[in-house]
Amino acid sequence: MIVSTYEALLRLRNGEVIGLPTETVYGLAGRIDNEVSIRQIFSLKERPFFDPLIVHVSGLEAAMGLVSEWPDLAQILAEKFWPGPLTLVLPKNNNINPLITSGLETVALRWPAHPVAQELLVKLGVPLAAPSANKFGRTSPTRAEHVEQEFRSAEIPIVDGGPCSVGLESTVVLIENKNELAILREGVISLSEIESHLKRKKFEYLLLQKIDSEKSPGHLKHHYMPAIPLIYILGRQPITQSMTQLWSAEFKKLDSHVEGVRLLKPRKIESWTELRLSDNAVLAARELYNSMRESASSRKDVILFFEEPHMQTEAWIPILNRLQKAASMKF
Ligand code: TXA
Ligand code: MG
Repeated sequence: MIVSTYEALLRLRNGEVIGLPTETVYGLAGRIDNEVSIRQIFSLKERPFFDPLIVHVSGLEAAMGLVSEWPDLAQILAEKFWPGPLTLVLPKNNNINPLITSGLETVALRWPAHPVAQELLVKLGVPLAAPSANKFGRTSPTRAEHVEQEFRSAEIPIVDGGPCSVGLESTVVLIENKNELAILREGVISLSEIESHLKRKKFEYLLLQKIDSEKSPGHLKHHYMPAIPLIYILGRQPITQSMTQLWSAEFKKLDSHVEGVRLLKPRKIESWTELRLSDNAVLAARELYNSMRESASSRKDVILFFEEPHMQTEAWIPILNRLQKAASMKF
């Protein structure tokens, strides 16, 4: 149900969960000081409690109020990239309910750039825990109607802030031991952008490799999956019958669930639709999840995505990362 920003504010004050527009994707937001809201976020999303939530703040000061340390590295990155699609993972303090962080000693923080998110955070005066507003393991929402479709029966109040301008979830950066950092999730703020800023600031840092490690508990093999199975194909190839037979045989070998996420499998492969994206990575990111949802409504047996040579640049990394996780199979 679409509501005004004012009504959303009243609902949040009242401890309700709302659909919140941000510049990356829509979030399912609840105030961090209300445990009932936090539990409701997990249950609406059908999200396991081991996967922690991002806390959205109204600025640097609000972020500092939630951590036990605010190293120079955090200050330098926040000054440059906030408000915006960057999430910083830092040691938490006792103001954070362990449900939000899945019992971890760290908390993920982000100051979003979307004006509606900013207005709600400032007027509420309490940070908001908000994961992407989709069922666990499924395609993220980049429009208010995606959130409505996702939680149709639950009648969540949603603020329509228009289509998200970025379209991919934030880059998640872990900060450890004052000057060590690791990218836990790729996003439109790239590693080279982060590194060149730190070099410009003459900041001595150590880059750690932690993607897919236990430090990023949400980093599952499958995620973002559309409602019909997606096949990721390296290079553009003509589709032949022997190919679809091979795919069908491979699908039969797959487990029904991987790390708790149900894997989608086609009953037969006789029809398909191709997921086509703009050649421009900024536009491709913006339209990715909407295109995935549209392809999924085609009622074909599978969606095909072809990775092409022009996608070999850094700007495509977060897009291809989402598509590979969204795919039930890769060839
Ligand atoms: O752009 C975004 O980040 C969106 C919007 C709504 O802000 N939010 C989002 O939330 O993508 P979610 O819950 O779908 O993804 C959060 C990711 C998960 O992979 C989670 O495991 C990771 O952040 N995360 C959260 N807290 C963490 C922590 N303390 N340590 C490591 N990873 C953490
Ligand atoms: Mg998500």
